[in-house]
Amino acid sequence: MLYAFELSGEHEELPVAEVLACLKIEGLDFRLHTSVDQCLVVDIAGTEEDVEIALKGPISERLAMTHHILKVVGIAENNPDAVIILADSFKPSGYIREGQSFVVRAKRIKHHVDFPGELLEQKIGGCIFRKGFRANMKNPDVEFRLVLSEKAVLGTLLSSINRSAYEARNPQNKPFFHPGVLMPRVARALVNLSGIKPGEIFMDPFCGTAGILVEAGLVGAKVIGIDAQEKLVLGARMNLEAFELNYALMEGDACRMPLKEATINAIVTDPPYGRSAAILAESLEILYSCALEEIQRVLKPGGIAVVVSDKDALEYGKKAGLKVLEIHVQRVHRSLTRTITVFQKHRDEI
Ligand SMILES: C[S@@+](CC[C@H](N)C(=O)[O-])C[C@H]1O[C@@H](n2cnc3c(N)ncnc32)[C@H](O)[C@@H]1O
Repeated sequence: MLYAFELSGEHEELPVAEVLACLKIEGLDFRLHTSVDQCLVVDIAGTEEDVEIALKGPISERLAMTHHILKVVGIAENNPDAVIILADSFKPSGYIREGQSFVVRAKRIKHHVDFPGELLEQKIGGCIFRKGFRANMKNPDVEFRLVLSEKAVLGTLLSSINRSAYEARNPQNKPFFHPGVLMPRVARALVNLSGIKPGEIFMDPFCGTAGILVEAGLVGAKVIGIDAQEKLVLGARMNLEAFELNYALMEGDACRMPLKEATINAIVTDPPYGRSAAILAESLEILYSCALEEIQRVLKPGGIAVVVSDKDALEYGKKAGLKVLEIHVQRVHRSLTRTITVFQKHRDEI
């Protein structure tokens, strides 16, 4: 069965990588079907009921960079005639039941079509009306959504991601604030890339105010944080307490983690960047080099570490013996570009 993810446009690759990571975390058997600007279609095996329980439940609760999940009715070329043929020809069973009402909403992605979506909403509505269903704009039972990107994807809405929950956790709204924190949506997407599952042990060795730890704690991980500055460890405690999470915090050095080897399931961290950063090390180069060696030591075999930096963590990670899975570049503003490197510890190493 095909499902579509309507993605946010905040980054070209991260929203896609996040969806794929969440499908893996939930153990779904899937393959990529179609990937167009801000819409990813995957073919998921298994019973519709089981798949939709996972999509509406844990996957919707975890995702940060997706707006909606749809059950796909069909995919057409992105011109009105092709879309109307699709809307005319699909069989309604499986999407809308007898007696249910519907609404059609079209979403144009960037410059990919030059015709108004509203006209198509009415025409598709007409096609569905002729199949024997009534429209209800205010309180419909079923919402048909048409995503107009490089292709046109028509589907019914399965669930919407509560993106405002991330805004509510913006750094300024937490009990303790300190500048230089990742926004919660980015932090959550990175936590998802780490593949962490509920009940597993997650660590951030440069935890600062616990922005990343809060997102990992909210997906059910047991979180461990280390930071060199006492005031930040105290602040991190206040922020983790506010969300009643399961945590352990230590004032310490990421170059000498007080942890046994192969004990941590996943790590996401943003070490200090820029020349003016507060660091406990002789130089940023030494800090990166020894912290990545420690990350490799404490990770369980197969465990993932996501490192955000303004410098290339790649070489330090490779030197430490980590495998590189993905690299994403994020331009934050004119003078700050972040590199997100996804490493994995080899499975046969302890
Ligand atoms: C970019 S900030 C991390 C921000 C964090 N993600 C948050 O949510 O607030 C980097 C942090 O690394 C800490 N730090 C610097 N040197 C360190 C070291 N050797 N070991 C552990 N933490 C260190 C700093 O105190 C700072 O809080």
